[in-house]
Amino acid sequence: MTNNPFRIPVVIHADSMALAQVVAARIAEVVRAKPDAVLGLPTGATPIGTYHELIALHKAGLDLSRVRTFNLDEYYPIAPDAPQSYHHFMREQLFQQVNIDPKNIHIPRGDVPRDEVAAHCEAYERAIVEAGGIDFQLLGIGRDGHIGFNEPGSAETSRTRLVVINPITRQDAAGEFGGEANVPREAITMGIGTILVAREIILAALGEKKSSIIARAVLGLRTSDVPASLLQGHPCVTLHLDGDAAADLAG
Ligand code: F6R
Repeated sequence: MTNNPFRIPVVIHADSMALAQVVAARIAEVVRAKPDAVLGLPTGATPIGTYHELIALHKAGLDLSRVRTFNLDEYYPIAPDAPQSYHHFMREQLFQQVNIDPKNIHIPRGDVPRDEVAAHCEAYERAIVEAGGIDFQLLGIGRDGHIGFNEPGSAETSRTRLVVINPITRQDAAGEFGGEANVPREAITMGIGTILVAREIILAALGEKKSSIIARAVLGLRTSDVPASLLQGHPCVTLHLDGDAAADLAG
């Protein structure tokens, strides 16, 4: 269902599995049309089902050997083999189970020395440009409206950089780290500007915890107070929601 009054096109799915199937099928379509497509990828609970479906499509014959990937973000500091790292998440949830060439995988590093972070971020941006830009970007959304780790107040023109993580985001990650105090205070994230130049964007959200921020992103003004609202006006963006995440859009 696409509703015109919304400032971003919205598709509402019966459940998380239906959403995952549709989003994975779209990724497969992108890859079939362009076997060396550049995919921007998130971590988190939301994309797990989509990655599961993508793995199933791969097992059924989808070739990902030429695909290039750029992940949105990584905690800082964190070792790539730490169980909470996004390097670890991506290995477990996707990369170990498909035939993406390891040399085509890019994830910001959480273990570069602090005085090398700025150069690392610039190199990440350069690598995206050298790959030809992101063809398809998958996003989740934080309860505070963040995309990647672009927390409220992030500039529309922001690029890959070191950022401070919001308290609400650190609370949400507390379980994985055995307490909020153990959650890193910073992260490296692609910027809003990096995301907005992707040729196609799908933002997926599941569950009633996301319903109020989804309503602000879709119905509210375009403002850096709600980073996801900055997707309004992108020429090819769609929000994919389950009924709970869409609950505050009605009426
Ligand atoms: C993670 C990322 C974050 C998540 C967001 C939602 O790479 O970019 O913006 O997408 O925090 O996380 P989940 O899906 O766990 O609710």
